[in-house]
Amino acid sequence: MSRPARVRIVEVGPRDGLQNEKGTVPLAAKVALIDALSAAGVSVIESGSFVSPKWVPQMADTAEVLAGIRKRPGVRYPVLVPNLKGLEAALASGVEEVAVFAAASEAFSLKNINCSIEESLDRFAPVMDAAREAGIAVRGYVSCVLGCPYQGEVPLADVVRVSEALIAMGCYEVSLGDTIGVGTPDKAKAMAAAVVDAIGLARTAVHFHDTYGQALVNVLACLDLGVSVVDSAVAGLGGCPYAKGASGNLATEDLVYMLDGLGVETGVNLDALAAAGRAITDALGRRPASKVAQALAAKLD
Ligand code: HMG
Ligand code: MG
Repeated sequence: MSRPARVRIVEVGPRDGLQNEKGTVPLAAKVALIDALSAAGVSVIESGSFVSPKWVPQMADTAEVLAGIRKRPGVRYPVLVPNLKGLEAALASGVEEVAVFAAASEAFSLKNINCSIEESLDRFAPVMDAAREAGIAVRGYVSCVLGCPYQGEVPLADVVRVSEALIAMGCYEVSLGDTIGVGTPDKAKAMAAAVVDAIGLARTAVHFHDTYGQALVNVLACLDLGVSVVDSAVAGLGGCPYAKGASGNLATEDLVYMLDGLGVETGVNLDALAAAGRAITDALGRRPASKVAQALAAKLD
């Protein structure tokens, strides 16, 4: 399989990025970030989550965020939901797409959503039914596909099994999360290839955190399989509150720069994207983690 001509970028900064911020990020900064991302040409922006505010306080204002953004035609604004309560809140906010999230590691599932993998899949069944009834699409995540902060090694068979279960219950796509960013290219490619064999290329997305600086090479390895949906977070924001030491996601600026260089279309304007990253990191009081963002900022000085 050869590299795709076009990649759909799923921008997860406003959710996966900001969920990990310790201090409360002002509502206006969240809204401005999402609007700047859509203006830069990003067509899928994960905009928040309807989870327990006791577990992830930073996402407690997702309804207000969704009410505040300027929805551009053709742009999708999915949110994460862990259960029916989350889905109902998402529907009340007029959301047209949600994502459910499972893990390939039992230990991580317990820490992240307080239930076993099987229980989480059972919990998703009514979410899928209600989403189908409401006519909204559901994406599925599988976390810890290349290692777990609590369990260590994660068998490939578990990644495949959970991915298949999510597709069987009606998810249109599964995003494979290297939650703690421990993967390296050959392992990432072998893992993605096993999932592609099971659920098909068109349903497989990848989601790498950059803890060990491997996210971009891992994406490249998966592009060589033909994978054409990649998650990333502007300015390399993020981490996971239930995965200690996990640094940010792959930075969207780094991804777009590489894809531009490879001649792979994304529809994203890199300068406008980098400006969005500078605005949110200014609001957070730090510099973008992205090397590309830093290089572009230096040219502005
Ligand atoms: P629990 O405590 O077992 O659930 O949490 P519960 O049903 O006993 O509910 C506890 C309280 O939460 C109750 O309130 C519920 O009403 C409330 P109380 O009666 O105590 O006042 N509650 C909710 N409130 C708002 N929205 C909801 C909701 N559900 C219950 N949807 C639960 C279980 C799943 C709710 C909890 O563990 C949770 O919210 N976890 C979310 C964790 C999370 O968001 N993690 C980060 C996202 S995953 C990630 O980052 C990985 C990813 O990026 C991919 C990768 O990198 O691998 C996707
Ligand atoms: Mg993540």
